[in-house]
Amino acid sequence: MKNFVTKKGNKYWPSQEMKSIAWIKDDKIYKKDKIKFWEEQAKNLQWIKPWKTAYEEKLPYFKWFKEGKINASVNCIDRHVNKNKTAIVWIPEPHNQKKVEISYKELQEEVSRFANLLKKLKVKKGDVVTIYLPMIPEVIFAMLACARIGAIHSIVFSAFSEEALKSRIIDGKSKVLITANGHYRKGEEVYLLDKVKIAIEGTKLKKVIVIPRLAKRIPSDFINYKKEIRKESSECKPEVMNSEDPLFILYTSGTTGKPKGIIHDTGGYLTQAYTTSKFNFNLHENDLMWCTADVGWITGHTYSCYGPLSLGNTLLIYEGSPDYPNFGRWWEIIQDNKVNVFYTAPTAIRLFMKYGDKYVKKYNLDSLEILGTVGEPIDEDAWNWYFKNIGKSKLPIIDTWWQTETGANVINALPGVGPFIPSYAGKAFPGINMAIVNDKGNKVKTGKTGHLVQLSPFAPGMLRGVFRNEKRYKETYWSKFKDKYDTSDGAFMDKDGNIRLVGRVDDVIKVAGHRLSTAEMENALDDDEYVNEAAVVPVPDKIRGEVPVAFVVLEKGKPSDELKKNLIQDVRKRIGPIATLKEIYFVEDLPKTRSGKIMRRILKGLLSGKEIKNVSTLVNPDSVKKIKENLA
Ligand code: PRX
Repeated sequence: MKNFVTKKGNKYWPSQEMKSIAWIKDDKIYKKDKIKFWEEQAKNLQWIKPWKTAYEEKLPYFKWFKEGKINASVNCIDRHVNKNKTAIVWIPEPHNQKKVEISYKELQEEVSRFANLLKKLKVKKGDVVTIYLPMIPEVIFAMLACARIGAIHSIVFSAFSEEALKSRIIDGKSKVLITANGHYRKGEEVYLLDKVKIAIEGTKLKKVIVIPRLAKRIPSDFINYKKEIRKESSECKPEVMNSEDPLFILYTSGTTGKPKGIIHDTGGYLTQAYTTSKFNFNLHENDLMWCTADVGWITGHTYSCYGPLSLGNTLLIYEGSPDYPNFGRWWEIIQDNKVNVFYTAPTAIRLFMKYGDKYVKKYNLDSLEILGTVGEPIDEDAWNWYFKNIGKSKLPIIDTWWQTETGANVINALPGVGPFIPSYAGKAFPGINMAIVNDKGNKVKTGKTGHLVQLSPFAPGMLRGVFRNEKRYKETYWSKFKDKYDTSDGAFMDKDGNIRLVGRVDDVIKVAGHRLSTAEMENALDDDEYVNEAAVVPVPDKIRGEVPVAFVVLEKGKPSDELKKNLIQDVRKRIGPIATLKEIYFVEDLPKTRSGKIMRRILKGLLSGKEIKNVSTLVNPDSVKKIKENLA
């Protein structure tokens, strides 16, 4: 393994060896004019027609590369076809199934066929196509097929429930769904079509394309992908898209019960996906990148598809679970495929810390050059474990902070610049302006915690709206600080501009790095006939970071273990397995303000054993005492 870092004090810096191969070797890049920086980067993409106006802002809206015309699939496929190289390496979960390597040429043919099939089903530019697929190559074919014809893809994580899928199909008004009959996970066959059948009932969905991943029958009213795709031509002319045309929507949780469809544009998003993949992971021509995120999440969109492919790199995707058949699986994949860049989440690192030391040692990880992490704050223990055991104390850890809304990475240390400081994400990426402000929107002093915001010019990968809900876009992101984008994260900055995140300041919790709104779970509980009212709050968890627990006031019936079990099951069914409540506390009353707002902060405090002092703003201060007794 190469030696890419040196230590000074509690900070790590890039070694000369790292600097010699780094795209960015010093911090001059941070001083560049921000709009010019992005313009320079955008020129690395293939445009059908160049833009005239690089950036235009009429808040809360802004546009990048205004008159530019572009097609994302051309950038991710066609321009790399002549390089004669592998685009995707796919590792199926069962050991007895062979890995599949797909060249850029094959990718072009597969995507074109798929695009032609979508056209045959009358999918047009601007239509939303819902994708509900596991990590199989066809998920990438499907995304790029949509991009080829200008359809907007809306991916729903395949572990999400039928209800989550249904609500997204309805909100997106999609007529076509692409799914699979199932997949392999933890050595089992997971069947998807029962959930699909329930999800599409009562929607306006017309066609379901099914990828036969399992040797199971496909109902005759669904389209069997393998059979139909053969009839399609392997050539499909790409649609000419405006840079600002949407490329995809992706639903994410906010503070209300209803997930919002975050809209990303084409040219701006692709520019930031391309640039951050290249600079953060120092991707060069022959590097193989493995981002372990499922494409059901934004990380998978940007770093398991658009980023590495727009650069013409090879990316790896794996179908299954990290612990199948044991905790050595990921390291075996890295060894056997000579992975150079590995990007994962703190929750996975904590899982390996607990179970996996002995497995890591069995494998040769010398091919690795850059390690990345994303999704939640990484604590020093997890950082150090990752650094020592996977990086052998020689590799930089690029802790990347960003969001579904930002589309691509926003805060991190660059591999050739550093410093890499355990638990600090780093500086705002070149071309991006981040600040920490107080409630009034004024910058706070060095070291003081405040709201993390983005300042103008807003980065090209940023969301362009909330699908069919302008009001929510304005209220969520632009109402607190009119001219600043509100991330809803708390953070502080050191004197050098390195940012440390302290977590969400709204009612969103991060379970194993995945975003869940407390309101969504509360709605699921409130809908139960036995429940009068519920409040969900996070509690710390050693592996998953945070997990939800609920306080429930009953409408009828008596508290019982059976009722608890049923309610936990109901919420899981409604949202998906990440929404598994760790505990339900049955209480008589919930602490509320005079305006009726449930004080979750107090509930959180009670759970962590904190002394609750100021209860004078509550309409029912007694409730706190009673809950405390209940918890004792
Ligand atoms: O709270 C921050 C946390 O994840 C939130 C965004 O979640 P999501 O939209 O699901 O996207 C996750 C993957 C990009 C943020 O508001 N978060 C993300 N990355 C980090 C992080 N918190 C601390 N450190 C990070 N590196």
